[in-house]
Amino acid sequence: MIKNDLFLRALKGETVDRPPVWMMRQAGRYLPEFMALKEKYDFFTRCQTPELASEITVQPIRRYGMDAAILFSDILVIPQAMNIEVEMKPNFGPYLPNPIRSTKDLEKVVVPDVKDSLGYVLAAITQTKEKLEDEIPLIGFAGSPWTILCYCVEGQGSKSFDKARGFCFTQPKAAHELLQKITDTTIAYLKAKVKAGVNAVQVFDSWGGMLSPQDYQEFSWKYIQQIVDALKDEAPVIVFGKGCWFALREMAQSGASAVGVDWTCSPKNARYLTGGNITLQGNFDPARLLSPPPEIKRMVNQMIREFGKDKYVANLGHGILPHIPLENAKAFIDAVKEYKE
Ligand code: CP3
Repeated sequence: MIKNDLFLRALKGETVDRPPVWMMRQAGRYLPEFMALKEKYDFFTRCQTPELASEITVQPIRRYGMDAAILFSDILVIPQAMNIEVEMKPNFGPYLPNPIRSTKDLEKVVVPDVKDSLGYVLAAITQTKEKLEDEIPLIGFAGSPWTILCYCVEGQGSKSFDKARGFCFTQPKAAHELLQKITDTTIAYLKAKVKAGVNAVQVFDSWGGMLSPQDYQEFSWKYIQQIVDALKDEAPVIVFGKGCWFALREMAQSGASAVGVDWTCSPKNARYLTGGNITLQGNFDPARLLSPPPEIKRMVNQMIREFGKDKYVANLGHGILPHIPLENAKAFIDAVKEYKE
């Protein structure tokens, strides 16, 4: 039994005294204790060493007492496990030296046995659960197949992912083959994570907003729906798409327990688009954590009032930015924990 189950109760839509709170990318660069480990170990060493991954996962919890932890890892461990080389270059980000650009490139891409290739993630879950001592739930995550394809084809981060979109529009058959392989791997991966002990899973569609609503259905949503269908009876699923307000209705009807909202969509509009009955998560502008703490607290209270305290998980509208002052992150978390109607 989880002692603080506020997050899980909000995902079920139960009435709560205050909403639960966590922050996307909460284990990260704004924390000095994270930076200390980053200096000693490269990125994938941190991901692949269960002692380190579990330690990094609990760092923000010790400091701020969020209502949920998210396992430290990365969405790009999936292409790595599928035999696509991924490097994390300091001050550059992800770099894939052999991007997928043709049917021929696809031949080497495998759907792996996740217990072998991603066993280190499952071990990190076991160790994190021990460290959390059932105080709060642990979230596992994966990137959406479309967002993973973006990196596999582009070979690196991008503002517009033109190569990835071009690949889909000129070689749709190859694109769908790659998307299905990613989907099959992701489903096996998330199921293994649930078995290993995560209490909920989140799918990050960080680049869904690059697609038109019609292309979104074809190249992204179809595959996220497969993931939701496969996981929803095993654990609560949260679907988050950045820039995907146009898909909020489908997301709400998908069988997911909650839908993430970014800061470009008002709480009122998000409730309207999702029919008012599903748990929503979000949507504080990550850059607003640069405001002075009293203003952050005022804005958080307003955000909760607009979403309503029930069927709601307080969070940012996307990942926390680097260089956010520690006391500003604290103001965000505390404002939610102190919320009273
Ligand atoms: O939320 C958490 O605290 C858990 C950890 C987490 C990381 N990546 C650790 C990380 C999660 C949930 C992710 C997801 C992720 N990774 C996404 C989807 C969420 C989002 O923000 O849109 C994406 C697109 C990636 C791919 C990725 N990983 C990029 C583009 C980068 C480089 C840019 C950056 O954010 O620094 C990474 C590296 C990365 N993943 C870091 C961390 C803490 C920073 C690099 C480092 O620590 O060396």
